[in-house]
Amino acid sequence: MRIDILSVVPELLESPLSHSIMKRAQTRGLLEVVVHPLRAYGLGKSKQLDDYQFGGGAGMVMMAEPLVNCIEHLQSERTYDEVIFLTPDGVRFEQSMANRLSLKKNLILICGHYKGIDERVREHFVTLEVSIGDYVLSGGEIPAAVMVDAIGRLLPGVLNDETSALSDSFQDNLLSPPVYTRPAEFRGWRVPDVLLSGNFGAIDDWRHDQALKRTADRRPDLLDS
Ligand code: ADE
Repeated sequence: MRIDILSVVPELLESPLSHSIMKRAQTRGLLEVVVHPLRAYGLGKSKQLDDYQFGGGAGMVMMAEPLVNCIEHLQSERTYDEVIFLTPDGVRFEQSMANRLSLKKNLILICGHYKGIDERVREHFVTLEVSIGDYVLSGGEIPAAVMVDAIGRLLPGVLNDETSALSDSFQDNLLSPPVYTRPAEFRGWRVPDVLLSGNFGAIDDWRHDQALKRTADRRPDLLDS
């Protein structure tokens, strides 16, 4: 899978995408992430990317032309399944969307800045608008990194334990059950006996009960859906 990210501050994306599981996904050739510094598409000598908004009002708007030049350049090289704009007024990013997008081949992610991007880019080029939650961040880079991580770890071969993405919280609308590791007793607090029993049927039942209980306590809305 290939993900192209259009960004005014590409440095913000460096660290999250170059360590741990995202690094492994890329070194294994399962995920290619290409970050495009939008400044290279800026207009004129000053490489301008933003301008005042028509009608007045505080905050600059990212101009259509640099964005469209970059998008069209990419689209001339390959076909994209989605052109995604990260924005607080988009559709909420959830595990189900990560699952769906992990099956795609090529994605473009546009990171917004300032007051947003010229609406005409959204109307004519963007196919999906995504929010990572009901709060406003300074730009779309951190949301883009969140999406790449959530999608990238689902690609077959990225996680070493093939079952572990399936047992993540949210994969079946349940939160994950508690987990423990050695020692079996720490400061007098013992690991639940069932986990030491070697009875895998009983362990599965216990985990399912715990997942249900945790979901009912913390996220009853997930059980309703
Ligand atoms: N840009 C700024 N805030 C955002 C959010 N919550 N989700 C996606 N993109 C954003």
